[in-house]
Amino acid sequence: MKPIILVVGARPNFMKIAPLHAELARRGVNQILLHTGQHYDENMSKVFFEDLRMPEPDIYLGVGSGTHAEQTARVMVEFERICLEHRPSMVVVVGDVNSTIACTLVAAKLWIPSAHVEAGLRSFDRRMPEEINRLLTDSICDILLTPSSDGDENLLREGVSAEKIHLVGNIMIDSLLLNLERAESSDIRERLGVLQGEYGVLTLHRPSNVDDEIAFGRVLSALEAIGAHLPVVFPVHPRTRKQAQEFELEARLEAIPNIILCEPIGYLDFVRLMSGAKLVLTDSGGLQEETTALGIPCLTLRENTERPITVTEGTNIIVGNDTDTIVEAAFKALESGGKTGSVPELWDGRTAGRIADVLLAHVHRDG
Ligand code: UD1
Repeated sequence: MKPIILVVGARPNFMKIAPLHAELARRGVNQILLHTGQHYDENMSKVFFEDLRMPEPDIYLGVGSGTHAEQTARVMVEFERICLEHRPSMVVVVGDVNSTIACTLVAAKLWIPSAHVEAGLRSFDRRMPEEINRLLTDSICDILLTPSSDGDENLLREGVSAEKIHLVGNIMIDSLLLNLERAESSDIRERLGVLQGEYGVLTLHRPSNVDDEIAFGRVLSALEAIGAHLPVVFPVHPRTRKQAQEFELEARLEAIPNIILCEPIGYLDFVRLMSGAKLVLTDSGGLQEETTALGIPCLTLRENTERPITVTEGTNIIVGNDTDTIVEAAFKALESGGKTGSVPELWDGRTAGRIADVLLAHVHRDG
């Protein structure tokens, strides 16, 4: 069998590919793990391979940072060369980052079948680069693997034929459940000096929050109010650090009462940190899902979400970017213990097996 290429590029991809790579390895499938190098810092990339027990990538493209066009184009040029050389039987992409659309586009034009893990999610906000990546990827991928039924509904509404769509569940929860016990040995709370159930965690990197000085300032004002009541751990994303420097907001950030600033944190440490938090504030997609799976209250600092099931069934509340709304929701969560919820169907730790079944049926059918 010709190889299946599994593509990773940026931090949120690693926990989605690790369980699938392990499952395909267990089944003896010929596979190539390819890292585009969109994220390259040790703490944004390498530590995740170690924490997730994923082998080093077989191929590293090293594309690095750039504008959207530069980054996407560089991945395409490099990935086309790899596809021509290896002639894979299938290309598997995950999520919604620039590497996702770049590799899917290359595969489609070379007539290589492709599969998208985490298909069908829509924020309906085309100002988000990720929304453009989701729409384009799904429109040219052959196999669409959805994490929840809202994904199926979105795809059907867009005219995708039902036989391309497979509801398989949320693969990121495979990684979470698999590593929850191992994460208990992390001493991250001791290192940061926080006590179980007595701190908040904040992550922030969306362009809508950090590329706009006024929006960034509104979040800082909210933190100033929340910090007076709750220590908040804030692992700072490279984009966010750069923007804080650009807007000269660093001193203000550091002066926030009870804020604990640190570098981006590895997977096991972060799972440990998140699972003991009283409250999570975030603009990430993945954290909305992980907090729902763990039953931790989450406030999402965005106007919308492509993961509505975390709101309808889970612990997530969309609070946007207005200072008063964020503070009010945080205080309410601190007083009441926060929103409770249930874990969505098929977020059961067995998604990788279901995905492998679909992929292999397709590869064998096509010979
Ligand atoms: C990317 C994804 C986003 C995902 C996020 C998670 C796209 C369009 N965006 O956003 O969906 O939620 O990753 O982290 O693909 N940088 C470093 N070191 C790194 C990586 C980036 O310093 O290892 C810097 C770069 O200089 C760059 C900035 O951070 O200017 C942003 O990186 P980039 O990959 O462009 O997008 P993210 O904001 O990380």
